[in-house]
Amino acid sequence: MKRSHYCGQVNESLIDKEVTVCGWVHHRRDHGGVIFIDLRDREGLVQIVFNPDHPEVFKLAENVRNEYVLAVRGKVRPRPEGTVNANLGSGHIEIEALSLTIFNPSEPIPFSLDDYCHVSEAVRLQHRYLDLRRPEMQRRLILRAAASRTIHQYMDENGFLEIETPMLTKTTPEGSRDYLVPSRTYPGEFFALPQSPQLFKQLLMVSGFDRYYQIVRCFRDEDLRADRQPEFTQLDVEASFIDEEAIQNLIEGLIRKLFKDLLKVELPEPFPRMTYAEAMRRFASDKPDLRIPLELIDIADLLKGVEFKVFAGPANDPKGRIAALRLPQGGELSRKEIDDYTQFVAQFGAKGLAYIKVNDRNAGVAGLQSPILKFIPENIVEAILERTDAQTGDIVFFGADKAKIVNDSLGALRIKLGHDRNLLQGQWAPIWIVDFPVFEWDDAENRWQFVHHPFTSPKITDVKELETNPGQAVARAYDIVLNGIELGGGSIRIHDQDMQYAIFRLLNISEEQAREKFGFLLDALKYGCPPHGGLAFGLDRLVMLMTGANSIREVIAFPKTQTASCPLTGAPTPVDDVQLRELGIRTRKAAISES
Ligand code: AMO
Ligand code: AMP
Repeated sequence: MKRSHYCGQVNESLIDKEVTVCGWVHHRRDHGGVIFIDLRDREGLVQIVFNPDHPEVFKLAENVRNEYVLAVRGKVRPRPEGTVNANLGSGHIEIEALSLTIFNPSEPIPFSLDDYCHVSEAVRLQHRYLDLRRPEMQRRLILRAAASRTIHQYMDENGFLEIETPMLTKTTPEGSRDYLVPSRTYPGEFFALPQSPQLFKQLLMVSGFDRYYQIVRCFRDEDLRADRQPEFTQLDVEASFIDEEAIQNLIEGLIRKLFKDLLKVELPEPFPRMTYAEAMRRFASDKPDLRIPLELIDIADLLKGVEFKVFAGPANDPKGRIAALRLPQGGELSRKEIDDYTQFVAQFGAKGLAYIKVNDRNAGVAGLQSPILKFIPENIVEAILERTDAQTGDIVFFGADKAKIVNDSLGALRIKLGHDRNLLQGQWAPIWIVDFPVFEWDDAENRWQFVHHPFTSPKITDVKELETNPGQAVARAYDIVLNGIELGGGSIRIHDQDMQYAIFRLLNISEEQAREKFGFLLDALKYGCPPHGGLAFGLDRLVMLMTGANSIREVIAFPKTQTASCPLTGAPTPVDDVQLRELGIRTRKAAISES
């Protein structure tokens, strides 16, 4: 039997016509004398009716169970009044079966495809081929395919060439651990899987390809979270003779198009832009979720002279920060809720969570309730309330510590309060964060680290000036953030060898180390490298946001677990001794058990 239509595409326009559909039995109901089957394929469900007027077909249908694979030929007819299902594309019709082929039976499957919520992710991933039958998963992967298609079209229309770069390559410094692949032909030596195509795309600019893009798999061996996988997909872009503005306009144009074409959502034009410094000051994050209308207010200048050590210390420490976070109507929080928030911020290193409840703003200190009032002079309390614009009924929280701890803890608290108190405004909040610092100081290692990657151009072009004050240097780097998630990042690159060496020096990478690691890039800079820049965004993260999924694992057909394994195939697995010998590898485990 040859399929004429997808199940989900059979509708009123086919009434009285004969169709043939193929798919899986989603539900089967035996209504004494009449059998109903909901047949499912990737486009949706259709209801099929078997009645005893066709005794042979009916007999066959009696044997059918859930998840059997069938083909059914039948006649489309309107559903009887009262049985219409408006939620279903095919909900106004049903197919009266005229013939039935059972291609294959199915054993009862390990979890119901409707009831997935109660199944652990481990079980879903182990039987991923069944999990992917769920209509929700099918919709997500279909949207993902549509997003990819739109990206290819858009990049092509904008003159970008798709060029592939190697998977077996050398380390790319994106700040994560590499996945290594042993070489058989060079025993003891390894390829690295690319953390990104960064170096190759820059080389393509030297070659004159001018506008490059690739939808490309990247590999990073890092601690996994809901928005991180060991292998993930980027839309990677690079162009020559352009500036920040050009890349930003290109990428936001693409994101607007994706939202408009696939979700019928109009995003703002242009996306707002905010400096890194402002984002940190107001939202304590370089990926602020602007749907949450809460902001931090700095108050260290008011507290330099107080005796209360918790505040006086950070107020007088150049690396300290004291910030207030006002929660309108937060006065109703119970003691227990405040204790829970105090524990929450402790995860980020905060030693406490001071607060002032404003019971009556007009009653002076008598109208306030707070564990810190006794430590702070009245006029300063008044100045704090004024600056934070506190109103009767509010609560104001305080964080005082090293700036990093205050930012991590109050930044996270801001988001938590936003969700807990249902404060989110609007559905989509895209924003560009610009003017990142080039370096950040690593206290543990006592040296500068790069913030984006070491090929990012600083704004200043004078090498000496950069070397005198690296901490102040602003990068020509930009991130695109959507709803508090970093979607992508990029920069204008260094195309000058002297500047590139200066950056390596500041990062404590000697000339020899630099030559050994990226000699090929440094050489290329000598031979007429054009000014260039680009960006990469995470396709998985974008599709996760667009489909409302809560993890990128939900939009990847065969993802890894939180511990970077694959329950379906069992990977990673030990390998044959023969294979290891060929590669010149002896694992420590084997070596230990032999000795
Ligand atoms: P960056 O390291 O910021 O930049 O990565 C760009 C984007 O890739 C996505 N991403 C990830 N998605 C899922 N799982 C991961 N483990 C993961 N790591 C990163 C994020 C991120 O914003 N070469 C530079 C780009 C450039 O400068 O052009 C780069 O890779 O969405
Ligand atoms: P203590 O004197 O340590 O009992 O703290 C008094 C109040 O200040 C309590 O409400 C603490 O939660 C709060 N607190 C202590 N340390 C900090 C800090 N680093 N930042 C903000 N609040 C703090």
